[in-house]
Amino acid sequence: MTALARLLRTTALRLTLVYLIVFAVFAGALLGYFAWNTRRLVTDQITATVDAESTGLSEQYRLGGIRRLVIAIENRARNPGSNLYLVTTFNGEGLAGNVGSLSPGTLDNEGLSEIAYRRIGEQDGTEHYALIRVAQLPGGFRLLVGRDVDERERLNSIILDAGRWSIALVVVLGFAGGFLVARRVLKRIDAMTETSRRIMAGDLGDRLPVGRSGDELDRLAENLNAMLERIVALMGGLKEVSDNIAHDLRTPLTRLRNRAEEALRSAKNEREYREALEATIEESDELIRTFNALLMIARAESGHARENMTELDAAEIARGVGELYEPLADERGLKLRIEAPAPAPLRGNRELMSQALANLVDNAIKYAGPSPATDGAVPEVVVRALNDGGKILLTVTDNGPGIAEADRDRAVERFVRLDQSRTEPGSGLGLSLASAVARLHGGELRLEDNHPGLKTVLALPRAEPGPA
Ligand SMILES: Nc1ncnc2c1ncn2[C@@H]1O[C@H](COP(=O)(O)OP(=O)(O)OP(=O)(O)O)[C@@H](O)[C@H]1O
Ligand SMILES: [Mg+2]
Repeated sequence: MTALARLLRTTALRLTLVYLIVFAVFAGALLGYFAWNTRRLVTDQITATVDAESTGLSEQYRLGGIRRLVIAIENRARNPGSNLYLVTTFNGEGLAGNVGSLSPGTLDNEGLSEIAYRRIGEQDGTEHYALIRVAQLPGGFRLLVGRDVDERERLNSIILDAGRWSIALVVVLGFAGGFLVARRVLKRIDAMTETSRRIMAGDLGDRLPVGRSGDELDRLAENLNAMLERIVALMGGLKEVSDNIAHDLRTPLTRLRNRAEEALRSAKNEREYREALEATIEESDELIRTFNALLMIARAESGHARENMTELDAAEIARGVGELYEPLADERGLKLRIEAPAPAPLRGNRELMSQALANLVDNAIKYAGPSPATDGAVPEVVVRALNDGGKILLTVTDNGPGIAEADRDRAVERFVRLDQSRTEPGSGLGLSLASAVARLHGGELRLEDNHPGLKTVLALPRAEPGPA
């Protein structure tokens, strides 16, 4: 495409053209109206003059008959000017006046009309136009009084000419302006296109040029740059996750494989084979759990789960999770207490929300254990669902070792397990999921100190009770 063709296809130029056309049409209409109105005004004035004159001459005739009229007309016709006079007999024979020739039949039409005529004494025979009134006088005489309208036409053509020239000038200047603007815009767009090509070719570190004017193109470039930053960050995260997955799943898979190999080599009877197989299944279950947790995190982070959001009661979820974990808590010598005094309305995904809370309770039971520090009293895990202003707080507290403040951010990351808990089974995904679910619901996961122990808080926006 040539540079000119590209310029012609820019929005800036097209918009300019459209505006110019609209402007020209309106200006033309306005000018036409102005010219027409001026012409009408002038015509009205001429008509009034002709009428007055006609009435005056008829009066002369009434007072002094045809002789007096002829004298009056001869007097008036002598003054050079643009007035026309003619008086004729019934047959059309001219008695006095200053009209050279008329088209035949003109005198038969009484009243006002516009005619072409020739002046007396003008040799070249140019036609002039006039507005005339023909009156029938008593006795068969006809009186024609008129006024030349050349001046009116001249005025009209001056107005129209001036209008035409100014519209033409505006259109030309407007087009040139549009051209310049379009070229400027095109230059910037070209720069952006060039950069985005480089970015698409793989140079993700490149950024679109942003000017200083803060106009719409600059804002667009800024937004695109922010989007690129986000994409780069996401890709970094994705790479980290896949590295983690590769690394963290390799260990259990290798273990699984080695165990099977070992069984094949050394098992001697059916019981030993069975034991080896059972261990394999257990290990596989653990792997499947890890995969499921990863998938759930991916679902929560992708935002797809937003489509399955419904009205939930966090208190009900707390009770459900509590019920589920009571046997496990008993087994561990812990007391699991649920405090959910009032409904706590939420808008969310039930499955993900339950799983997030379950992960927190699971941690509390797993890591708090029966701590000997609490003097004889049974250690407690408390799950609370509370209304706190515009927020719903789902909290889980325990009296275990807790997490040192410096480790709290790290503990939420994927596959991170703190050294102290290596003895317990787990893959380090529980808090990551809880945090991803909280973010999906527009809230956050907070880890706090329970003096002693850990307090985990899912702070979520409270749902306004919708129309029932
Ligand atoms: N209530 C708690 N008390 C003490 N430490 C905790 C507690 N909850 C979590 N942690 C620490 O944070 C780490 C990360 O927890 P997370 O739930 O993400 O993983 P996990 O429990 O190790 O494995 P998973 O939940 O996937 O089975 C744990 O390994 C543990 O060290
Ligand atoms: Mg956990």
